[in-house]
Amino acid sequence: MTAPILRRLADLRSKHAGWIRAGERVGVVPTMGALHAGHLSLVEAAKAACDRVIVTIFVNPKQFNSPEDLANYPRTEHEDARLLAPYGVDVIYVPDPEEIYPQGFASSVSVSGVSDVMEGACRPGHFDGVATVVAKLFLQTGAHQAFFGEKDYQQLMVVRRMARDLDIDIEVIGCPTVREVSGLALSSRNSRLSAGALRQAGRLHPILTRLAADLAAGGRFDALCAAAQAEIIAAGFDEVEYLSLCAAEDLQPLQVAESTARLFVAAWIEGVRLIDNIAVG
Ligand code: PAF
Repeated sequence: MTAPILRRLADLRSKHAGWIRAGERVGVVPTMGALHAGHLSLVEAAKAACDRVIVTIFVNPKQFNSPEDLANYPRTEHEDARLLAPYGVDVIYVPDPEEIYPQGFASSVSVSGVSDVMEGACRPGHFDGVATVVAKLFLQTGAHQAFFGEKDYQQLMVVRRMARDLDIDIEVIGCPTVREVSGLALSSRNSRLSAGALRQAGRLHPILTRLAADLAAGGRFDALCAAAQAEIIAAGFDEVEYLSLCAAEDLQPLQVAESTARLFVAAWIEGVRLIDNIAVG
């Protein structure tokens, strides 16, 4: 059965109040819609852990760096509701824009440190937009647990830091990246690629995996990075925006893999920017 779509905060709050009175645990899966199997895996994790599950769908203008990217972002509310139907979520919260950014909205949440590198350096203001909207969604949904994909690992770290720093009583849970058979990480952006570019993009993950193995075997990142970037270009990508080895918690750059190191990449293909990351070792 399709879950009710709520657009007003007051309606969400009255549902939430009933759940809390009944002593139920509430989970939230924040999304911008255009749902795919990666999102649905988060919904499954939320259903397994919580009594009630809210999926939020809000295309957040504050986290886009260009008006074209915002305009081109797929909006597929009907299809999203259809995909969610078999999962038995309790509410799909699709807030009216003024529920998130009311007239005169003047606040911003900024998380320094983990926001400053990689995506934060390439997309100024992006993580302020993410942290601001996610803080609002955490407070509006009053959820006990929130579920995010590790595909956006840096976002996961930013959101976790934000919730801790602002004393928002929510557990932020990271769930494994869901991949195509080729290894390509699922992303709403993949739908903008031609069949040929999708095939080429599928070569990114094996390249990362090989690099991770070389690093785990003791190789230095500065000695291996240029060859891996060249392989990504040879696979069909137009540009590698960054390829970085970082510590998993604070995202500080590393030259040698420590036990929790992760590799991160952002690369362009056919005008689409793809990101991915994997654990090393
Ligand atoms: O990952 C996303 O889809 C978005 O960045 C999020 C977390 C829903 C905030 O708008």
